[in-house]
Parts: sequence; C-alpha cells; structure tokens
Amino acid sequence: MAGGGFVDGGGAGRQYDGGVTFFVMFTCVVGATGGLIFGYDIGISGGVTSMDIFLKRFFPSVYRKASAEATHESAYCKFNSHLLQFFTSSLYLAALVASFFASVITKKFGRKMSMFIGGLTFLIGSILNGFAQNVIMLIIGRIFLGIGVGFCNQSVPVYLSEMAPAQLRGALNIGFQMATTIGILAANLINYGTAKMHGHLGWRLSLGLAAIPAAMVTLGGVILPDSPNSLIDRGQRQEARRILQKIRGTENVDQEFQDLVEASEASKTVDNPWKNIIERKNRPQLIMAILIPSFQQLTGINVIMFYAPVLFKTLGFGDEASLMTAVISGGVNVVATVVSILTVDKAGRRALFLEGGIQMLICQVLIAYFIGKTYGTTGEGAFSKGAANFVVFLICAYVAAFAWSWGPLGWLVPSEIFPLETRPAGQALNVMFNMTFTFIIGQCFLTMLCHMKFGLFLFFSGFVIIMTLFVYFFLPETKGVPIEEMYAVWKAHWFWGKFIPDEALGSYAKNIQLTEKA
Ligand code: BGC
Repeated sequence: MAGGGFVDGGGAGRQYDGGVTFFVMFTCVVGATGGLIFGYDIGISGGVTSMDIFLKRFFPSVYRKASAEATHESAYCKFNSHLLQFFTSSLYLAALVASFFASVITKKFGRKMSMFIGGLTFLIGSILNGFAQNVIMLIIGRIFLGIGVGFCNQSVPVYLSEMAPAQLRGALNIGFQMATTIGILAANLINYGTAKMHGHLGWRLSLGLAAIPAAMVTLGGVILPDSPNSLIDRGQRQEARRILQKIRGTENVDQEFQDLVEASEASKTVDNPWKNIIERKNRPQLIMAILIPSFQQLTGINVIMFYAPVLFKTLGFGDEASLMTAVISGGVNVVATVVSILTVDKAGRRALFLEGGIQMLICQVLIAYFIGKTYGTTGEGAFSKGAANFVVFLICAYVAAFAWSWGPLGWLVPSEIFPLETRPAGQALNVMFNMTFTFIIGQCFLTMLCHMKFGLFLFFSGFVIIMTLFVYFFLPETKGVPIEEMYAVWKAHWFWGKFIPDEALGSYAKNIQLTEKA
C-alpha cells in the first residue's frame, strides 16, 4: 500500500513513502493488549476489597474495624484503613521497581521480550491470587502482578510509538490506553457479577480471571515482530528493513530506514542512557518524563478508578447501586478514549490537554461544592436522589475529560519525545513516576478523604490548574513529527530551544525551517 504518508508536525514536516497497513494495525492492536492487564488490576481491587467475605478471610481486623467504625464515624471516614489501602497500592510499588529492570531488557533484548516477561509474570500473579490460601500468597501474587504491569507499561507504549507511522502515532499509541480502559470496565463488570456469588468463588474469580488478559499479552510477546528501531539498534538491519517494508506496505522505505540507522548510530555513542538522560540537551524530555506522569496522577483520577464503589457508598448509594455506578463511569471512560483516538493526530496533543484540564477543573469545583453543601465538615447529611444523580453526572464528565486528555496523553507524549538512546530509560522514568504517584494516591486517598473531606476535590483541582498552565507554556505540539526527528520540536520552542545544540538535530531537521513555533 503506497500513498505517501505526509507528515505535518506544525511545520516540522517530513515525507516518508508508505502508509497505514493492515499489518501495522494488527501489531498495534495485539501490542496494546498490554494495557488490558494494567486496567484490569486498576478496576478489580476496589471491588474485591468491598466484598465482606474477602475482607473477613484476609483482613479480619480491617473488617472488624470497618463495621465498627461505620456506626460512629463520619461518612468521610467510614473506610479509612491503611491496610486496605496497602492491598490496592502495593502492586504499584512492585511495578515501579520492575520498570527500571524492564528498561534494561527492552534495550538489550527488544520491546517484545519485555512484553513477554510482563505477560508471563502477570499470569503467574493471577494464578497465585485466584488460588490464594493466605495473605502471603495474596501478597506474593500482587508482587508478580506489579512486575507484569511494570514490564508492560515500560515496553508497550514505546513499541506502539515506534511501529506506528508518524501521522497516526497518536491514534495507535492510544490503543494502549484504550485497552487499559477496557480492562477497567471488564473488571467493574466482573465485580458486579461476582459480588452476588455466595462463598469464596466470587473474589477468586475476580482475581483469577486476570489470567485471560495475561495470556493474551504473553502470546502477543511471542507472535509480534520487534520494532524496526529496536532491531536496528541490536544490529539486525536486514530483518529491520523487512519489517519496516511490511508495516509500511511499500518496498521503498529507504528514507525512513536511513533515519532510523542514523538515530541508532547516534545512540551507539551513548554507553549509559541514565547518565545521558540528565545531560542538558535532554533536559526538556527529562522534565516532561517526570512531570507528565506525576501530573496525570495528580488529576485525582484514581480516586474514582480505585475507590468508585466506596466513594459512591459514602455518597449514600446502596451496595448494588454503587457497583453499577462504577460500571457507568467505566463505560464513559472507554467511550471518551475513542474521542481521543479520533482527534489526537488532527487537533493535536495540546488542544486535548487544555480542553480536558479546563473541563476537569470545572467538574471538580462543582463536585466539592455539592458534597460540601450537603455533608459539610461533619460528614452528616444525605443527598436527595436528584443531587446524587447530578454528582454522578459530574463525576462522569470529569472522567470523560481525563479519558481524552491526560489519560492517553500521559502515556503517549513521554513515549514519543525521547531520542532512541534514552527512550527505554525515559519511558522507565515515566512509569516510575506514574507508579509512585499512583501508589501515594492509592495509599492515602481514604485517609485524605477522612481529613480533608470535600476539600479533597479542591486539592486535586489546584493541581489541575498548575498542569494546564504548564502545558500551555511549556509543552510543544508533537503531532505528526517523526519520532527520530523530535529534537527539532524542542529546538523551535521559545523556552526549551536554548537547551538543544545544533548537533542534536537529525539530518532532515537541520535543513528545514520550522515555520511555526510550538
Ligand atoms: C492511568 C491510570 C488510570 C487510568 C484510567 C491511565 O492512563 O495511568 O492510573 O487509572 O488511566 O483510565
């Protein structure tokens, strides 16, 4: 399939032959299943920890405390327990550490090797959890799951960004987030079904069914080809050219191949990517790989994703209504991600970030206002049916805004801005900061809700203001820019330009005039 993939990156244009093939779509869809295991885990733990039989068996003290507290504590504090929070958040600690090791494997043995390891460890974790006899088994299982998430989140976004043709990189990369949201929704639905089961079968199924997405990822790790960028980097040039021809659907891949080889040769001069990443010329990317994932979590999204059933219970909903409401917000999450896929390569990353930020801010302020008005600071009060529904609507509007902005872009942008030599390390940093803040929020939310009450939503909205201003001033547009030509974008930026020496630019970028400042 020919057709000339014209790339317009806000002036940093580059013409490669070839287009979008069925084969590249296939590899990206299979690769994106890596997001399923991440999402499944995000969605499953909140529901399982709200099952009495699970709590009684593994966390009896939490169970006793939760039921005793419910009688005399304010609504804001009903579920405040460090142990309960640790069950949810411990996995992210393991993921954080694993992503560092994943970056080494991804560089040395290729992207698909990391996906394979991620899928396999997640599979082991889900089997251990599904058959757990005691807390030790449960926790070891969680650690395996965390390793799986760390490996997949480190390798999949990079893989997708490298396989995709530049003009469709955003949409294909968002396949990862799409799979994440599908994983969350599947988990919400499964929890809704298994919560009704008698005996221990319910939680065993909820935890054990994670084996299905895990098996899909493991298989993906076996059947997928590695990215041309990684193959060239590991000295397999012939194979890289063959794969490039196959994914672009044309024999004529000379120009792109040449750019990849150049990028690889430049990368060979770097023996320690971790040292290189802190060099001045990589400063903008380094700052982004730290701030973007941190900001993504500071939107407060996982307050909803982890604890939606608990939150809705706190708002006065019954057990079943709470789980159902979690399913509804999970559905909104999936649908809104499609909006992002359809617009990211046309409207660009910045437009989505800015619109999403403003919409999230408005929703958070209104949610704080309505909860504050009804529950005050004492936590006593009850929503009318209409008010409760309106708050659910606001939560859904907030989730939608996240789902077309910070959700996908929090993974896309850091995976596409690093040069080849530091890309795996940069992505590992991204995962580490994401997981650190996921851990902190998972660990602290219920306690924060207890102490900050409705002000918690204002707390997160403060960060949304900061991150939206940050994007406005400091994040250049990256849509359509070939991944190995990204230095040109930083060079053209009013603030970051001074960090980029001329030698850092690729052959093409050196010769073009960037017509539009980012
Ligand atoms: C975030 C997760 C979040 C999910 C919600 C992802 O991009 O990294 O922390 O739970 O989006 O869809």
